[in-house]
Amino acid sequence: MKFVHFGDLHVWSRGFVWRELQYPKRWIGPVNLWLNRRKRFPPAYRLPAIDAVIKEKPDIAVFTGDFTTFSLREEFVMASALFERLFEKVGDGLIALPGNHDRYTEAAVRKGHLEDYLTFLSKDRVFTRQLAPRITVVCVDHAYPVLWRSNGIVKDEVHEQLVETMERMRRTNQIVILAGHFPFATPPKHPESWEHKLIGEEKMLALVKEYKPKLYLHGHKHVRWSFRPDSCPDTLCLNCGSIGMKSESREKQAGYITWEMDDRGEIRKLTAKVYDGISEWVPHPLSAD
Ligand SMILES: [Fe+2]
Ligand SMILES: [Fe+2]
Repeated sequence: MKFVHFGDLHVWSRGFVWRELQYPKRWIGPVNLWLNRRKRFPPAYRLPAIDAVIKEKPDIAVFTGDFTTFSLREEFVMASALFERLFEKVGDGLIALPGNHDRYTEAAVRKGHLEDYLTFLSKDRVFTRQLAPRITVVCVDHAYPVLWRSNGIVKDEVHEQLVETMERMRRTNQIVILAGHFPFATPPKHPESWEHKLIGEEKMLALVKEYKPKLYLHGHKHVRWSFRPDSCPDTLCLNCGSIGMKSESREKQAGYITWEMDDRGEIRKLTAKVYDGISEWVPHPLSAD
């Protein structure tokens, strides 16, 4: 089974948003876009990114969130067109969940554009997809609108559902690939900041220590890595980085991760592919241990 893991496309539509100005994010975000993001997330990267995933001919394509930048209708319309193109080829092999930018403000959540335009998304905070008799992907959605920061939150009711799901996976002897938007642990070289971290990450760390999923797939921090935390060495954490960001650094430049997995859950050919900004997605091996 061939996998592609990608995320943080961050489609954006325009510089300024003259609405919901009671939310500091609604003016800090656009100023940031004007100064930085419009250069860091070139619109010309979007179609090559989706086409690169299609060209891999994956059995399973996992998108770990942040389709948009400000959860605007126009952004969801564009994201929907791009993902429709992918869905046509991959069908049910597309597994996706939202990130914090897709639930940017309370008002944006109330409008329901996320659900209206990205109809392939699950309505549940915790959901599973069985890929083979012994392999299941378990997804958890920790994205909530936060007033002006970029945190995720591990809420008790969602975490209880996740624990119940992991218990069921254990009883049925499943090898689990766990996926969320936010890292619960980061390599020492890339510490997470308080305004960007997953609030309640210690609960996720405890869950991973207990249930030992084979992989934890996430994004949010726009740096690509493969990392086994000291406290849960049985789980390989993969951060796919952004598939839409322009950077001088190879770890941050637009790219994704791909690998093959056999029916016993063994991982082979774990590779990062990085966009050269013109036409090629250049492979770089990633260590699985
Ligand atoms: Fe992001
Ligand atoms: Fe994010």
